[in-house]
Amino acid sequence: MQIKACLFDLDGVVVNTAKYHYLAWKKIATDLGFEFSELDNERLKGISRTESLDLLLEIGNLKLDPETKNELAEIKNNFYVSSIQKMNSDEILPGVIRFLNELHDGGILIALGSASKNAMTILNKINIIQLFDVIIDGNKVSKAKPDPEVFIKGAAELGVEPQYCVVFEDAQAGIEAARNGGMYIIGVGEAENLKNADFVIPGFETITLDQLINWYS
Ligand code: BG6
Ligand code: MG
Repeated sequence: MQIKACLFDLDGVVVNTAKYHYLAWKKIATDLGFEFSELDNERLKGISRTESLDLLLEIGNLKLDPETKNELAEIKNNFYVSSIQKMNSDEILPGVIRFLNELHDGGILIALGSASKNAMTILNKINIIQLFDVIIDGNKVSKAKPDPEVFIKGAAELGVEPQYCVVFEDAQAGIEAARNGGMYIIGVGEAENLKNADFVIPGFETITLDQLINWYS
């Protein structure tokens, strides 16, 4: 089998926005009067804003009415959006651009598959929209990871069947989504947080297309 497309998550894979999401949720938790650790935050990675809030409230043992929850989600997003305003291409994770260019030169199609409704803002800030053949973000899907919709849509728009796709993900929910979509999965980060990936890399600094082809075959 041959790799025809690679699909990339955004937050925590292409760029280190995962830290901004964490800080914004931590602020909400602090305001509500409970602790929210980086370990707790692993459970929020990759999932939608509303589901993240539900999990956060579960961690804090709180039950709130829908209106208050909407307000909190908006406060979190405003805080998050203001912290990403100053982003620039320096925040692209090491090796990402080189690897995307290598894939492109090797004839591999490239898609973004992100749960975030702020994905286009970030891609504009870091100036890499042109490196993606297809972009699927949180505004284009109705089901959040671990549902495979975001990756299935990405593959369909690229015109590639799932078994020829490789997904790069830093979140457990994203790995499950790719698994549910029948794709090959590279976890990006620490193996203990990325169960069920086919292979785990710490980042993109040294990965090459030849290596990827070797792992996949
Ligand atoms: C994912 C992040 O990419 O996007 C999650 O990993 C986040 O932490 C989700 O909750 C939704 O993002 P946004 O920007 O629409 O709130
Ligand atoms: Mg992510």
